[in-house]
Amino acid sequence: MATLSKSLTTMPADRQPVAGAVAALAAVAAELSALIRHAESTAQLGAVRGSANADGDDQKKLDVLADEMIASALADCVGVAAYLSEERDDAVTLHDGGDVIVASDPLDGSSNIDTNVSIGTIFSILPAAGGHLQAGRNQLASGIFVYGPQTTLLVTFGDGVHAFQLAEDGQFYDMGWQVQIPPKTSEFAINASNSRHWMAPVSRYIADCLAGDAGPRQRNFNMRWVGSLVADGWRIFRRGGIFLYPADARKGYEAGRLRLVYEASPMAMLVSQAGGRASDGQQDILDIVPTSLHQRVPLVFGSANEVDEFINYGS
Ligand code: F6P
Repeated sequence: MATLSKSLTTMPADRQPVAGAVAALAAVAAELSALIRHAESTAQLGAVRGSANADGDDQKKLDVLADEMIASALADCVGVAAYLSEERDDAVTLHDGGDVIVASDPLDGSSNIDTNVSIGTIFSILPAAGGHLQAGRNQLASGIFVYGPQTTLLVTFGDGVHAFQLAEDGQFYDMGWQVQIPPKTSEFAINASNSRHWMAPVSRYIADCLAGDAGPRQRNFNMRWVGSLVADGWRIFRRGGIFLYPADARKGYEAGRLRLVYEASPMAMLVSQAGGRASDGQQDILDIVPTSLHQRVPLVFGSANEVDEFINYGS
């Protein structure tokens, strides 16, 4: 069976900086996976560390650890010019003349760390020449590692999405899965506890889904919400669905909750490479040029027909 390390080493010379960064991230992911599974460490890793990260979220011990492990792994990759992280206010400059920039949410789904629910690492790889703030369309690669019942990687280098699973020997093996998001779905994911804060089009769209076969959509919908973007995303790659974290009326949620550079953009590249769509309700996520490192963006992604349907409700 093909391994990730084999496919990375056989990539062409001009792709080696990207390959090197993915190899470094995969090594960290394997270490994190082992750490998370270690009986004694779990509760401690979910402890609040005291300070809030660049976005004002509580920082957990595992957030900080994952960030430090990635920073140190990338420091050994001469092809990486800079590291952008959810856990740091500013970019970390690494190698002069490096070809790529790596942006990452080192530990996504922190509120699930000590609940035995899937969490993950998200990454985006951009050409260094474009600077720190580039449209997602420029990404050379992106991916998500998920630490769940299986530790897995979904990665794209711009030629489709490849799925790998971590085995006991520390290698990621190709899962032999043609990753394609079915265009049609009857399953949505949204944090419904925010419904009183939603904008009218979101309320209308969800109300029509909930109305089921008696409503205008003329079919019944199912609902899922894991609360870890990586896990909700993984399910959608597997069987379709629509994920929504829209803007809402709460203070600080005017542009939703998720971060453009290291959450929405990498997810959007994966989604579009798997035949799905990712939008902020108006434009494709991949076309948005960030104006700051930690900027938030409303995020709707998944099965192409359903994302289009949502967009038709207006926003
Ligand atoms: O990174 C933010 C995140 O934890 C995502 O993984 C998840 O989709 C979302 O926040 C959950 O938000 P909420 O706390 O509103 O359910």
